[in-house]
Amino acid sequence: MSLKAKIEIEGKVLEYPITEGSEHEKAIDISKLRADTGCITIDHGFLNTGSCASAITFLDGELGILRYRGYPIEQLAEQSSFLEVAFLLNWGKLPSKSELDSFEKKVASFSKLPEYIERMIDIFPKTAHPMAVASAVTVSLSAHYPELNNPNPSTEQKDEIFALMLGLFKLVAARSFTAASSQAPIASNPSLSYCEDFISMMGMKSNKDVAKALDVLLILHADHEQNCSTSTVRVVGSSNASIFASISAGIDALWGPLHGGANQEVLEMLEEIKLAGGDYKKALERAKDKNDTFKLMGFGHRVYKNFDPRAKIIKKACDVILAQLGVKDQLLDIAKGLEQEALADDYFKSRNLYPNVDFYSGIIYRALGIPTNMFTVMFALGRMPGWLAQWKEMRETKETKISRPRQVYIGSVVREYVDIGKR
Ligand code: SDX
Repeated sequence: MSLKAKIEIEGKVLEYPITEGSEHEKAIDISKLRADTGCITIDHGFLNTGSCASAITFLDGELGILRYRGYPIEQLAEQSSFLEVAFLLNWGKLPSKSELDSFEKKVASFSKLPEYIERMIDIFPKTAHPMAVASAVTVSLSAHYPELNNPNPSTEQKDEIFALMLGLFKLVAARSFTAASSQAPIASNPSLSYCEDFISMMGMKSNKDVAKALDVLLILHADHEQNCSTSTVRVVGSSNASIFASISAGIDALWGPLHGGANQEVLEMLEEIKLAGGDYKKALERAKDKNDTFKLMGFGHRVYKNFDPRAKIIKKACDVILAQLGVKDQLLDIAKGLEQEALADDYFKSRNLYPNVDFYSGIIYRALGIPTNMFTVMFALGRMPGWLAQWKEMRETKETKISRPRQVYIGSVVREYVDIGKR
């Protein structure tokens, strides 16, 4: 028996179907509401509004569950690899050994950026934030692959776009770092694994622990259903804009300090606390003070009202990786103290504010030798398969229409124009 919702407006009762997902999430389908009643809904920040049906990622914010195509994030982080997870997100199944081998080779084959893109990266001011470089360069790739700007690409073209963006964005990220630090660019070595190649192009010391740590971090960032940047990719892509423009817009949205930019803000916050003598209690008081715009960065989440399962995995990995690297970082101790204090504090408890994916990730990036202003680029590198898979799903969904929300107008009612001489 299909569920229905009854809405009564000015004495008129209307019924709307309730759809139910595979995890029993329910949604009231209001697609006919305005035609029936002249009313729209309003939901600032879309806290209660679904934009699409998706089969890619499921998360339950109350229970702290996250699954990619049904596979628990804990198992994928433990047993899978970033490119295998990317394959899973895009094609909806775990690859066979031969499928994974050919996919890895295909991604590795994109081992050289177009020459004009290299020049673009190199002429940016050294002070440019790497997210600005990443966004500008990504949309500029549309000039090199005009045939892939097609909003309805063939299956072969979609497969090409997927591997190309994973391969080339790795090069963009690394070169944006070496160019900004006035180092000679380091060529990609297709015989290395994805993470080993990235570490080598960053000029960092690599070993299997470092590569594994990076691989796990990229897995944990790979997708997260309809977050701000993924929704941006879908919205821009819904206008039939180029995939390169859609991904570039996603990078811009991720850069925001309330979103992916938080991982850089967390490190800067921890360093500020350390410089001020390590008293994290003051930071908590500021975060609770409504007259202070300061927020406890890396804490809180739109959906998770329990522990972010990724934060739990990263926190555990911090101890392991820092021990493997022989790194002692006072910022980790400050972060742990901050977390303990916040979780015991009623302000945070009553608002279900827990550490999110950004709270500990920077500690590991820093231990690996990645500079703070590259942290959000690392987030974008991890999120790339998720953005691409979500864009593909949106393009392949027959219900997809151009995204164009309505509004409630609260400005001036009609009035006559008055000539400037008479004002
Ligand atoms: C990511 O959506 C995703 O899936 C994103 C992401 C992904 O993988 O794509 O998970 C990645 O973006 C993680 C979030 C990273 N951002 C931060 O760490 C920035 C700090 N966090 C906050 O800015 C905030 O928690 C948000 C932006 C994450 C969520 O904001 P919401 O859902 O709009 O919640 P809210 O701002 O309405 O907060 C509710 C209450 C408010 O207090 P009251 O008005 O009830 O008194 O909680 C307070 C907020 O002031 N609050 C905080 C806080 N976060 C929320 N107070 C202090 N410090 C914080 N961090």
